Amino acid sequence: MKTEINRTIYQKLEDRFYEAGIYRPLQVDRYNEGTERIYDIKAITGKDQARIHLRIEKFVGGGFAGQVYRVKVLKINSQGGPIDGIESGGSYAMKILIPPVRSSRLFRNVLYGIGFQGPFQLQTNPAAARSGALWQKFIRRGAKLRFGDEKTVVDIYATFVDPQLGSCGELSEWVDGRTWRLEVDDNLDALKRWRKGKPVKADRLGSIEYRTKYRFMRDFVELLHDMGGHEFARQYEWATCKSQPNCLKRTEAENDPAGGLVAVDFRAGLVLLPFLIAGVLQIVRPSYFQVMLESEAGQALIIAQLVLMAIGLRLLELNHRLGSIGN
Ligand SMILES: Nc1ncnc2c1ncn2[C@@H]1O[C@H](COP(=O)(O)OP(=O)(O)O)[C@@H](O)[C@H]1O
Ligand SMILES: [Mg+2]
Repeated sequence: MKTEINRTIYQKLEDRFYEAGIYRPLQVDRYNEGTERIYDIKAITGKDQARIHLRIEKFVGGGFAGQVYRVKVLKINSQGGPIDGIESGGSYAMKILIPPVRSSRLFRNVLYGIGFQGPFQLQTNPAAARSGALWQKFIRRGAKLRFGDEKTVVDIYATFVDPQLGSCGELSEWVDGRTWRLEVDDNLDALKRWRKGKPVKADRLGSIEYRTKYRFMRDFVELLHDMGGHEFARQYEWATCKSQPNCLKRTEAENDPAGGLVAVDFRAGLVLLPFLIAGVLQIVRPSYFQVMLESEAGQALIIAQLVLMAIGLRLLELNHRLGSIGN
């Protein structure tokens, strides 16, 4: 109901904008439910291309990497063979690699600029978007070998460029599922012992779903490290407290508390490694910290780090309020 009302208001405002005959194009930060879009998409496997007509069904969230929607494909015209996995009438996840909130976009781009001295590649470079997708396909293979089922990693089908938002995007399998239901933990100490691998009575361990998710994410981080995705692995580190929504439980496994987990987020938005290295150096080598404090440039760097941290925390909080649940 609320969405209906909002959509009408958005549409009325859009109509008024066009009626006013403004020469500058309408600035769009994200799409509303009901919007229809046409894209030229490229398959991940093979060289097939297609023109696709889709409708936005739902805005699911968006953090620093991009914005996620559930979309319905209305029509697909393939040039050559069919695009693996995409059919007319199907629902898919669409991720466009530009954050919906402008301040988050600026923050992400500044960090990326410092880390890599260039614009955020997954947004601006179609080749980078495609190699990200290829990585995901490799990780699926790795997951099949490690966990016996590649469905533990969400599948990705195609990439495209969205000229209106000015970003690359991708179409993936839509996972009918949910995040972990927060449960009261009556046995904190027992779980702590369990995490360390010490013997604990089974009836004191509580939720099977919690433990399955913890174990899955730990093993997934290990798999990512083994495959060389060291910085990326933090997307699934339990301790960040932000990684849990990157792993969903499929609805089809609702009756099995130990099954149906799937990793859905393969695009990290924030470059953290250069900042973590500086932070760790400050802790393990206090002399480095002292040297920094002695020079004006060093002091400015420390202040900049603190400011960036404060802005980052504020934006994380804002993103949460705007409905983003991702990492
Ligand atoms: N393929 C998908 N199917 C269903 N839900 C998804 C899918 N991809 C993402 N989501 C949901 O959208 C949220 C945000 O997506 P994510 O890829 O983690 O973006 P980010 O963390 O960059 O905002 C996820 O936590 C998940 O709940
Ligand atoms: Mg996420």
